[in-house]
Amino acid sequence: MTAQIHYSGDSSDARVFSLSNTSISYLFRVSPEGLLEHMHFGERIEPSTTYPSRARRLHRGCVLEFQDSKYYNLSDVPQEYPVFGTSDNRLPAVHIINGDGNSTQVFRYQGHEIVNDKPGLAGLPSARGGQSLSLLVRLYDEIAEISIELCYTVYDQHDVIARSAKIINQGARRATISRAMSSCLDLPAADYDLLHLKGSWAREMNQDRMAVPKGRFTIESSTGTSGNVHNPFVAIMDQNATEQSGRVFGTAFVYSGNFAISVEQGEFDSVRVTTGINPFNFQWQLDPGESFTTPESLQVFSPSGLNGMSQIWHQFIKHKVSPEQFQGRARPTYLNSWEAAYFDINEDRVLELADRTKSLGLEMLVVDDGWFEGRNDDTTSLGDWYSDSRKFPNGIESVAAKVKQKGLKFGLWYEPEMVNPNSQLYRDHPDWIIGVPKRVSSKGRNQITLDLSRHDVQDYLFERLDSVLSSGHIDYVKWDMNRTMSEIGSFALPTDRQLETPHRYMLGLYKLLDKIVTKHPNVLFENCASGGNRMDLGMLRYMSQTWTSDMSEPIGRLPIVNGASYLFPPSIMASYICPVPSHLNGRQVSLKSRAEVGFFCAARGMSLNAEDVDKDFDGLKHYAQLYKETADDVVNGQFFRVKYSDNEVVWQLNSSDGSTVYLGYFHILSAANLPFRKVRLVNLDTNAQYQLQGSDLAFGGDALTHMGLDMPYVCAMQPDEDDYLAKGDFSSRLFVLKRT
Ligand code: DGJ
Repeated sequence: MTAQIHYSGDSSDARVFSLSNTSISYLFRVSPEGLLEHMHFGERIEPSTTYPSRARRLHRGCVLEFQDSKYYNLSDVPQEYPVFGTSDNRLPAVHIINGDGNSTQVFRYQGHEIVNDKPGLAGLPSARGGQSLSLLVRLYDEIAEISIELCYTVYDQHDVIARSAKIINQGARRATISRAMSSCLDLPAADYDLLHLKGSWAREMNQDRMAVPKGRFTIESSTGTSGNVHNPFVAIMDQNATEQSGRVFGTAFVYSGNFAISVEQGEFDSVRVTTGINPFNFQWQLDPGESFTTPESLQVFSPSGLNGMSQIWHQFIKHKVSPEQFQGRARPTYLNSWEAAYFDINEDRVLELADRTKSLGLEMLVVDDGWFEGRNDDTTSLGDWYSDSRKFPNGIESVAAKVKQKGLKFGLWYEPEMVNPNSQLYRDHPDWIIGVPKRVSSKGRNQITLDLSRHDVQDYLFERLDSVLSSGHIDYVKWDMNRTMSEIGSFALPTDRQLETPHRYMLGLYKLLDKIVTKHPNVLFENCASGGNRMDLGMLRYMSQTWTSDMSEPIGRLPIVNGASYLFPPSIMASYICPVPSHLNGRQVSLKSRAEVGFFCAARGMSLNAEDVDKDFDGLKHYAQLYKETADDVVNGQFFRVKYSDNEVVWQLNSSDGSTVYLGYFHILSAANLPFRKVRLVNLDTNAQYQLQGSDLAFGGDALTHMGLDMPYVCAMQPDEDDYLAKGDFSSRLFVLKRT
């Protein structure tokens, strides 16, 4: 076991906690006042060392001093779980209104426990334990009679610290929580950059890097989903950090609803990063004896740049977040009916698509939207999860059985969390929605969100899904979700708990997901919310992959996959070869570029109708074969961002044993007379030779690493030779190198 938790308080005056493995350490201490002071997160420091970390007590003139502690100004003290109102004016980790109406607490150290492995979080998704140790620290405020239990987990193999907090009302009066962060990380005063992922529908996950500003910078969501405007992830780094070098801290939230990550550079230049449920429009009533558990927040540290950070996230997500039963398993190549047929789907068309799926050599047919009662367009029927009897007279299960008889897997689309006002479900249960009395509900795609905090709603949805999945003919489910919340309230909750609705919704959703995936462990679940509107580690705890974006056109996808890869590995991303011109942006992109951009997602397929397939049959068959042959490498390999600029993107993927290296070169707009380009590869064996497939060339790993590989010429006057990219815009080349 390399994970260690050490407490020096038994043997010395300094009460220091040290959590470490062979690469990282996380250190904090208990101040004489009983407050938890953060000391270090970063490279490993021996627990037995002497720390050069003096008490931060300084005469500063007109600044606050914590209660009776001379020169102890908490605004200049790094802390583990700070509060407001006792000399720290930065954003606190927690804000609670006590039974007597004020919001002052002092949470002092009361005790701790070190436990093997990692406790689960009741009702919430959290990373799995295994080869890990956890520290539970109890804090208590004797006036408010509230305890807080902070949980920290350190892993043997992963440079990740997992954190959560549990707030317990020990008093006789109700307390009201208005802010409960899962983690606070106070970084020492320095100049940092931050990177976050921003966007909107069909352009999610665009990276944005900036200097950490003085003041507060917050990314957040208040829509009831983690969202596509910001992803619940932030990296903070040295300003000179690059993809390959520099110190980088990352935080990501294991939650799928409203979140806030704030980065605050305070008056003394230190930087505070808080991660948790968005406190805006949130309130939680905590009655005597009750507890509230925050979702989990993960912190990583890498001394080797942004790619170094991404490797830590990728390995961790693969091994500790993704469902175990599909971990490392090649994803089936597929044909999806959405861009092939939209709502115009029926038994004959499904069987026709199944024939094409089979003849192309793909492995699964997915019936997307449009298969259930009355669903001929997006104005109707969500909620009525029964096969449409005109389109599928013998039921969807019987079509699934026929598809399977052809030797294919069968997948089906659902959007369980939604209802159309034009549906039997809504007519029967108008109070099953997220909504507010007397107010008209705003619609999104003609639909309203169901109130998943309600047990009757959860039970109805479980029964509907379970009855179809129990046929045994469904191998894959695409779980979609196409609007965000508005007019937020629950008809099942009392007045004083209405602001609990979004979090109770998430608890209800997680309960439903847990029940479904536990009962149907062999079904591969794909997470989707109009693409990446809820692509987060909470959903990924139940579902092995995510429909990364509705932007299926490859050039539009480049920034999305590039940005997503800061946090997510290719193993959780899905793509398909789209029709041309693109239904999303009208672009005409060659089959080669469509297929080669899609290559870097583990779940790969096509969404083409019979005519599209017949037009490009040989080419599509070639890529179906390539996708199948490389499926293991992509799901298990290591992905690196090698270059990202406005006009060129280069990605590298090494198979898990390093024997095969795939390098994708994407050139966006053509131009005349461009310079020669070389790209330096990463993580190669510098003592080995690499044979370039499809040629008789071989190169030394050292040369590829330090000199780089020549990229194809971009030239409109080119001869049709291998050294040149295809003429015109949107070209690509996939290099495959084999270690000899
Ligand atoms: C949105 C998804 O992102 C699409 O892929 C498709 O499944 C549609 N919904 C179906 O309505």
